[in-house]
Order: sequence, then structure tokens, then C-alpha cells
Amino acid sequence: MDIKELRINSNRFKQSHDEICKIGATAGGGVNRVALTDEDRQARDLFVKWLKEIQCNVSIDEMGNIFGERTGKHPELPSVMSGSHLDSQPNAGRFDGTLGVLAALEVLRTLHENDIKTERTLFATNWTNEEGCRFPPVMVSSGVWAGAIALEKAYQSMDNGGVTQLEALEQIGYKGTTPAKNWPLHAYYEYHIEQGPILEKAGITIGIPKGIVCLHWYDITIEGQGDHVGPTPMEVRRDALCCAAEMILKVKGVPDRVGGGMVATVGEIHNSPNSRNIIPEKVHFTIDIRSWDDDQALKAWTILEQDFNEIAECNGTTVQMAVTSQVVHAPFNKELVLHITESAEALGYSNQDIVSGAVHDASYINQIAPAAMIFVPSIGGRSHVEVEHTDWDDCVAGANVLLQSMLKSANEIWFYS
Ligand code: GLV
Ligand code: MN
Ligand code: MN
Repeated sequence: MDIKELRINSNRFKQSHDEICKIGATAGGGVNRVALTDEDRQARDLFVKWLKEIQCNVSIDEMGNIFGERTGKHPELPSVMSGSHLDSQPNAGRFDGTLGVLAALEVLRTLHENDIKTERTLFATNWTNEEGCRFPPVMVSSGVWAGAIALEKAYQSMDNGGVTQLEALEQIGYKGTTPAKNWPLHAYYEYHIEQGPILEKAGITIGIPKGIVCLHWYDITIEGQGDHVGPTPMEVRRDALCCAAEMILKVKGVPDRVGGGMVATVGEIHNSPNSRNIIPEKVHFTIDIRSWDDDQALKAWTILEQDFNEIAECNGTTVQMAVTSQVVHAPFNKELVLHITESAEALGYSNQDIVSGAVHDASYINQIAPAAMIFVPSIGGRSHVEVEHTDWDDCVAGANVLLQSMLKSANEIWFYS
């Protein structure tokens, strides 16, 4: 058979998606499968079972990353990988990450049932804890695998309940033995939903990112003084939450001051002791800054640091500011982007280039290997929420583009520049 005619099995792909989404299913139609919880373990077990059913070699590394290997004719050549993540945000959608992992599996299943042997070895991968919402930072395990984050540092990351990432990996039985260390890759493809409104508005089926924005995470801790809210006059208060409120508005305003399409968000806040009749003593909040331009994101942080010091002084509080993670923007490999474009064209799907405003494991893999992504539209641009949705026809279109792009790379016996 001409492999250009090869297509994934839409029904099987959908059945697997429906089955895995039962794990951690929420009443609102989404999933709650936060990293290294029992729900994450169950989804991993299913993925491993499905990989074994098609005779893939399965390995699990020290960060719990799962690799399903389908050996090629030339295992000595750098391999071709596609992956994403099975963990979710709390009460989030069914497509973010999961679609990409299952599409990589579906590509291997399609090759298996058609008995097609590629020149290069292929991998379908699940990266541990892409979301970073329980154990920061984001994309930690692809970061360790790519050599950008130290394993020990990743292990020490702690959730709000005092559990470390190492303990959680051990608890769910996914602290593997293979070193979390990259091997030569010829190509890395990640298939994902767009998570924004651009493709749907334009009526386009396939988005082809030219790259991913940079992502900077900061952790801010303010210490004031707890006192009784009744007898304590306004002018002597050292209210940590009022101080945080002024700072949060500075974060909201910083993209306008710096310009260049940047976004900045405070998404998590902890107020202590969080009692309506105690003046807030301590506040911890997070900052997320993203831009295509790394220097602009750094400039925003310099502005905020100065503002925060002034605000803390005015409020009689102290402020600690920690840099949690700074991942540079990822411009994708042009040859891989071309493979995706040509595959989408050959399959007759409308397509356009785009920039990824969400980050992905491809951000780190791009630092060590040629990488690129395939996007499909998100209905209403909604993501990280239970109503996140993508038409199944679009999901199938993206998976077929992934199949054809991976085949191009897997049958190349030269190296990209
Ligand atoms: C990953 O989900 C991100 O925060 O973009
Ligand atoms: Mn994702
Ligand atoms: Mn996500």
C-alpha cells in the first residue's frame, strides 16, 4: 500500500479517548486528572496496556515519563517521537494533552495493523506533570529529560499538602528506573488542541505553530501583621492582602506598559490566616508572564520588581520574590513545519500558521532536537475548563496530519541541519 493513503482509525481513536476520559470524569463533562494522583495512575496504566497490546517496548524513566517504542529498520539512527501529557488541570477539559498522547498511540496502532516498518524507530510518549499546577514548574519532566531541569530539584518540588514530587511518583508506582535523559531524536511532533480562538474564528482545520511563547513563573510572598479587624485603626495596619491586591493590578497592567502582545496573570493566591476578622498576615501568589519576545518578558519582571518593593514599603510589609521558572520561547524547526504543511495540504485540510500561547513539552524538546506541533480548533477558544471541546472530525484530521508527518520523518535517512 502507498503509505500516503494510510489513515488512522477514527472509531478506535474515539473509543480510546472516551475510555480514558472516564478516568477522573467530572459532572460538568471534563476531567480532573491532576499529575501523580490515582486518576493519573489509572490513565497511565491504560496507556501502557494499549502500548503493550501492539507489541511496543515500554520504558518508564525516573520522572515517570512513559515511552512506547516501535523499533524501525535502523534502530541506530536518531528516532522520531510524538507525545504530550495525560495529566490535567483541576476540573479541566478532555482534550488538553490527552488528545496528543492518544494520537501518537493511534499512529503506532495504524502502522502495527498495516504491518508497516519505518526506517527509524518511533516513540509514543506521555510526559509526566506537564501542567505544573500541583508540582511546579510546568513541563517539568520533559525539562528534566531535555537536561534543562535538575532531577533532584524536580523531585523536591512540593504540593500544597507537603507531598514531594518524588513521594508522589513512588506512591503511584511510576518512579521508573530508566535515566530521565534524552537520546538522539531526528524529529519530535506534538499534536494538541489550539486552546485559543484563532482557528475556529478563521474556519481553519489545522494550525501550524511557528513556535511557542516564552513562559516565566514567579512566586511572591508578602508578610504583614495579623491583628484584630475591629480595634486596629486603618492607618497602623500592615495588611498583606491589600498589599497583594495593589501588586496584582500592576501585573494586570504590565503588558500594556511593555507592549508586544505579552500576557500576564495571577492565577493562584493563598491568604493566611484567611479569617474574616483577622487582618491578613501572609499572602502567597503566583505570576505567569508569556511573550514571543523573551526580553520583553524580562523587562516586565524588572518593572514589577520595582513596583512591588515600593508597594510593600507603603503598606509596611515585606515582600519576597522568587523566580520559579523561565522557559525561553521555542521557534520550531522549519523542515518539520514544512512536513506538517505538506501533509495538511495533501490531505486537503485548510491550514494556517499560528503562535502557541500555551506552552507544551515541545518547548523543552525543541531545545535539544528538531520539533514542531500540529493544532486543531478549540470551540469558543475555551481550554483549561470543563467545556473545552474540539469537533471529532477535526481531531481525526489532526491525527492524520500527525501520521503523515511522522511517516515523512521516520522514513528519512538523512539528518536535519
Ligand atoms: C500549559 O498548560 C500552559 O500553562 O500553557
Ligand atoms: Mn497541554
Ligand atoms: Mn494545559
